[in-house]
Amino acid sequence: MEMLAFYYFLAFFLAFFLLSKQLFPMRKNLPPSGPLSLPIIGHLYLFKKPLHHTLARISAQHGPILLLKFGSRRVLHVSSPSAAEECFTTNDIVFANRPHFLAGKYLGFDYTAFGFASYGQHWRNLRRITTLEIFSSTRLQIFSKIRTNEVHSLLRRLLVVAGNSSKSIEMKFMFFELTLNNMMMMIAGKRYYGDNVEDLNKARQFQELVEEIFGAGGASNIEDFLPFLKWVGFNGLEKKLVRLQIKRDQFMKELIEEHRMARTQSKDEKSLLDVLLSLQEDDPNYYTDEIITGIIHVLLTAGTDTTAETMEWAMSLLLNHPEVLKKAQAEIDTIVGQDRLLNESDVAHLPYLRCVINETLRLYPAGPLLVPHESSEECIVGGYTIPRGTILLVNQWAIQKDPKLWEEPTKFIPERMESIGGVRDGYKLMPFGSGRRSCPGEGLALRVVGLALGSLIQCFEWERVDEELIDMTEGTGVTLPKAKPLVANCKPRPTMLSFLSQL
Ligand code: HEM
Ligand SMILES: *[C@@H]1O[C@H](CO)[C@@H](O)[C@H](O)[C@H]1NC(C)=O
Ligand SMILES: *[C@@H]1O[C@H](CO)[C@@H](O)[C@H](O)[C@H]1NC(C)=O
Ligand SMILES: *[C@@H]1O[C@H](CO)[C@@H](O)[C@H](O)[C@H]1NC(C)=O
Repeated sequence: MEMLAFYYFLAFFLAFFLLSKQLFPMRKNLPPSGPLSLPIIGHLYLFKKPLHHTLARISAQHGPILLLKFGSRRVLHVSSPSAAEECFTTNDIVFANRPHFLAGKYLGFDYTAFGFASYGQHWRNLRRITTLEIFSSTRLQIFSKIRTNEVHSLLRRLLVVAGNSSKSIEMKFMFFELTLNNMMMMIAGKRYYGDNVEDLNKARQFQELVEEIFGAGGASNIEDFLPFLKWVGFNGLEKKLVRLQIKRDQFMKELIEEHRMARTQSKDEKSLLDVLLSLQEDDPNYYTDEIITGIIHVLLTAGTDTTAETMEWAMSLLLNHPEVLKKAQAEIDTIVGQDRLLNESDVAHLPYLRCVINETLRLYPAGPLLVPHESSEECIVGGYTIPRGTILLVNQWAIQKDPKLWEEPTKFIPERMESIGGVRDGYKLMPFGSGRRSCPGEGLALRVVGLALGSLIQCFEWERVDEELIDMTEGTGVTLPKAKPLVANCKPRPTMLSFLSQL
């Protein structure tokens, strides 16, 4: 009996679905919708992780501008430079919103954290503060000391681990440590890993928290697109987010309280937290602890993994292409020499090294679909009408590997970057996005990666652990992790040993 009712329901539903297409034909010139979209779940049935691979395949078959359905939500998928350009120039303000996801609701992203906040006065204000205190070239200049210290600390660690001979080292954690310490130094004036850890216990807590946040935090999830799952008791994500929120808030509260006790007055030494706390004194109703927590949270999640992964991919590519590694090292030996350590201002004079970084970001952009945008009103892209409230995914990963745009697109050839030109190379290469919602951390990331990679190449000889090539499979995650962490052999260069041992 119950089965029968179910079939009636299904038949009715299908009939309604087919009829509705007849009765209400599309009035507007919407983009093609690609493969068959099923009722309720839309295109979700097609998806396998990683999502950017699936979407790239679909668009290779059905075209670069597609209006898909992710369950209940409309998604514009874009995978050509010209369509991306339209989104980030003519329509930049329209697409300056971010969609709301569950993670946002529980972790307060929607309001407190500018990376996820809707476009408007509040987002502008938070972005302005972080630009002023962290991302501006003046601040980046002041923080140069921090980056140098952190890179030297990495070199020191490598020297200890590698000794005088060649030893295998897992690089992932080393890079993560570097970027996290660097961010924490700018945010709170303290580091969390390494030699000078003030409180080992807290460091461990912090590491766990960051890992969990990367696991669940910034991500959108199936429950974001099929909200009815909640009614049938499927709310694992929400439960997880509640737990995470409690832990995160506890950690941030301690960090903020501790900082309130020991504020720095010196202008240059001021950390972001110092600045936020003095803003709070002037305007406690606006700069609440929640707002401060949200800002710090977004900086940590957006700034650490992305940068560390980029270094891991770059090093992996170099190990699989020893001739490129040799050429980069020769450039450093010619321009910097071997009688001092490379420093940050050298990187500007090392074009080949920068090409290596650009080529790495082409093949492995840490934000393969950028960060989702959402349209605040109806607009036109590629001649099609895009309804208000549509989520925008720009498949930068697909654009940067498109055989129509790049010769031998999957090959690692840094030389091709020598001829890069103009705005994001005609919107073909934009690992940091473009327009007003683009990555504010670009300058910081490029400085950290340039200095770290340059120093590693100058000071050590690098080799794979055996004949076999490094496995370049992409893992799944919010960003673009390597499926297998990089393990490499390194040995200090005899010429650099005296500088290394003085660090
Ligand atoms: C190699 C490293 C990095 C890559 C590839 C990268 C890439 C991106 C991308 C693609 C976006 C989204 C752009 C869009 O929505 O169209 C983004 C946004 C963002 N990134 Fe980065 N990023 C990196 C490093 C950093 C660092 C070091 C920080 C900060 C410390 C940072 C902070 C942010 C923030 C706060 C946003 C959100 C901006 C907003 O919504 O207003 N990123 N990044
Ligand atoms: C490295 O070599 C130097 C001398 O060449 C020696 O003094 C030092 O103990 C060695 N270190 C390690 C870790 O083997
Ligand atoms: C880097 O080293 C060069 C040469 O010693 C020096 O002129 C320059 O000021 C240094 N830059 C930084 C940021 O330390
Ligand atoms: C790297 O790419 C950026 C665009 O993302 C460009 O501005 C820069 O000049 C490139 N650097 C080199 C050395 O090619």
